[in-house]
Amino acid sequence: MTQLTKRASMALAAMLLATGLLGAPQLFAQTHAVATTATQNAEPWWKHAVIYEVYPRSFQDTNNDGIGDLNGITQHLDYLKVLGVDAIWLTPIYPSPQVDFGYDISNYEAVDPQYGTMKDFDHLVAEAKKRNIRIIMDLVLNHTSDKSPWFIESRSSKTNPKRNWYMWHDGTAPGPGHPPNNWQSDFGHSAWEYDAKTGQYYYHKFYIQQPDLNWNNPQVRKAMYGVERFWINRGVDGFRLDAITTLFEDPKMRDDLPVLDANGKQKINEFGDPQLNDTMTNNLPEVHDVLRELRKVSDSYKGRNVVLIGETYLNNIGDLKKMYGANDDELNLPMDMQIGFINKLDVGLFRQRINEAQTEIDGNLPLIVFDNHDNERWDRYGDGTHNQDIGRVLATILFATRDTAMMYYGDEIAMVTTPPTRKEDVKDPVGITGWPKNKGRDGERTPMQWNDGPNAGFTGPNVKPWLPIPPSYKQSNVKTEVADFDSMLNWYKELITLRRDNPAIKDGKNIMLNTSDNNVLSWLRQAPGQPAVVVACNFTAQPQKVSFDLSSQGITSKQAKTLMKTPGSSDPASLDSVNLPPFGVYIGQVQ
Ligand code: GLC
Ligand code: CA
Repeated sequence: MTQLTKRASMALAAMLLATGLLGAPQLFAQTHAVATTATQNAEPWWKHAVIYEVYPRSFQDTNNDGIGDLNGITQHLDYLKVLGVDAIWLTPIYPSPQVDFGYDISNYEAVDPQYGTMKDFDHLVAEAKKRNIRIIMDLVLNHTSDKSPWFIESRSSKTNPKRNWYMWHDGTAPGPGHPPNNWQSDFGHSAWEYDAKTGQYYYHKFYIQQPDLNWNNPQVRKAMYGVERFWINRGVDGFRLDAITTLFEDPKMRDDLPVLDANGKQKINEFGDPQLNDTMTNNLPEVHDVLRELRKVSDSYKGRNVVLIGETYLNNIGDLKKMYGANDDELNLPMDMQIGFINKLDVGLFRQRINEAQTEIDGNLPLIVFDNHDNERWDRYGDGTHNQDIGRVLATILFATRDTAMMYYGDEIAMVTTPPTRKEDVKDPVGITGWPKNKGRDGERTPMQWNDGPNAGFTGPNVKPWLPIPPSYKQSNVKTEVADFDSMLNWYKELITLRRDNPAIKDGKNIMLNTSDNNVLSWLRQAPGQPAVVVACNFTAQPQKVSFDLSSQGITSKQAKTLMKTPGSSDPASLDSVNLPPFGVYIGQVQ
């Protein structure tokens, strides 16, 4: 074990002491004071930050109703602090009928009683601030709940003043069954819902209960910018803009085009519908106007550095670049889904995409993300035999490349995707429509595994959690992993510490190395006046030996000091010969 690993483990032990899992609270206070002074520099706080996504429903239940709550998050702030988290992105906590578990909002300026009260929210923000942790809210702009007072008014009559807040259209013929065009919901079937009262259809990109807002209406914009201000005034430091690319649709209402297979035959999707491309309903240029307006609002809070993050699934790096704005006046951090969602361990593709993110977005920072509440967890990359090692490789890419890093709760303890096994157990409606091809998103939303006791410590022993606790909690849980030097938790902690303390890893140039190697992904981090760092990740199940010639980077020394390595790797004497076990990682500082 390296010195750093020991330090990391001690810090985690200190954290547990602090949170009362082991006793004696004083140790933690010190860590906290050090961290607070370290942030007084000129860079916006979110650069190089570690952003941790919390799915509040599944983090910690404090009132034994089986559903996580805001107080549960507050309770674990010390844990997140010691892990090295700079900000928490909360998926929606607003009042909601919970059809889409919060992404169907009925009131944008309140807290759902399931999760607590506004007082609990203020308390969370204040306690987080004390620890220098920021809160990022999820802002759902594309649609509201059908139970939102705005929509209730809108659907009440064709002449209601809010009628034009949503996307109402006549069908191709009177009555149901004749939608205006072929547009589809991302969650299956037609995106048009017939409303008998007024004889028109409304458009919903997502569930029927999520009617799309009409972003061409200035009143909608004004209302939403008001929501943005409301939460900044309450102390939040950023927003994750949900489904931001879907705000606009083709004004001419043209059909989306079918996707054909190699034989020219129409493809069918997992819902049994014809597969369509979504050029008429996604990523329309008008989105950029709204991004600039949102940014004007956030930037008007001078000195606050409110960050705008976008949920941006895009086709290529060129589209990602546009999201920062031609004059850097749109999103601060559009999510880069190009790297984390390659979904197979392909050295060439990772190298290409990482390089693009370093060289083709005008020097902006990519926001790299591998996991979230909509996709199978990291174990989708696993081979069934070396999953833990593969998890370490992914974490190394996330934290040791030049980026802002976004992680999902439970990644750090190697929580695995645990989908329902029976249709009757499915909670996410998309899993009911798509069963069994698409089992929905329950599998990546299971309760956080705090310990190996009843209900993994998520809720009281006799309570039924809203989703079942995965069997993996016996090994993969915070309490067990804190005490295990070789755990995923300590690997995360160590990487995050390195990223914070080592200037080359923090902000150095990111240069891909050994670019014809198909087995090992390697890169160099190089900051002016600082020792350079070499990172190598074995993408194969066989041991690999690599050597590095850094002369074209102006480095002649072959001597390196090991900063981190996975269990089973050896300390190389020289960069001429670095041995990596299957899916092994080596990080060394050139001497
Ligand atoms: C985003 C959210 C997802 C939600 C959808 C509709 O993709 O991440 O969970 O279902 O938007 O709001
Ligand atoms: Ca609760």
